Amino acid sequence: MLGVAIAAGCGGWNVPPEAKSLKNPVPMNTATIAAAGELYTNICQKCHGVNGDGKVPPGATYFYSTKPTNFTNARLVDSMSDGEIFWKMTNGRKPMPAFKNRLSDEQRWELVDLIRVFAHPASAPAQK
Ligand code: HEC
Repeated sequence: MLGVAIAAGCGGWNVPPEAKSLKNPVPMNTATIAAAGELYTNICQKCHGVNGDGKVPPGATYFYSTKPTNFTNARLVDSMSDGEIFWKMTNGRKPMPAFKNRLSDEQRWELVDLIRVFAHPASAPAQK
């Protein structure tokens, strides 16, 4: 049943179907990716690694046995809808924090765009 586990990102999150079908209202462009990149560096990188590679960076302290998701795993990221990634950030699952109150909806959607770029670097919007 590996296919089923992969179809739900890292599995077992019970994301509601109506959350999965939400569409990302924030377009992927250089401004949103830059904004998301700053949030990512400040908040997410200490667990999810530089450029989303899932490796805790040198110097960061990480106490948990659950591994942070590697967002450069394109198959895993592609298996999740935008709404699903957004919902997981909103609600968290230990040790993944919930960002419902810490980040605005817009910031969380921007981060969804950034996670897509980590999975597919060639899809990054061109600098003008
Ligand atoms: C304290 C460490 C930590 C921080 C900080 C953190 N995460 Fe996570 N995150 C995790 C772990 C661990 C998991 C895997 C949880 C699991 O498998 O149950 C995870 C899972 C996720 C998932 C679900 C992926 C999947 O495989 O289904 C997303 C999306 C995510 N994180 C995004 C973010 C973003 C964006 C930020 C910053 C705003 C962030 N995380 C900050 C530890 C962290």
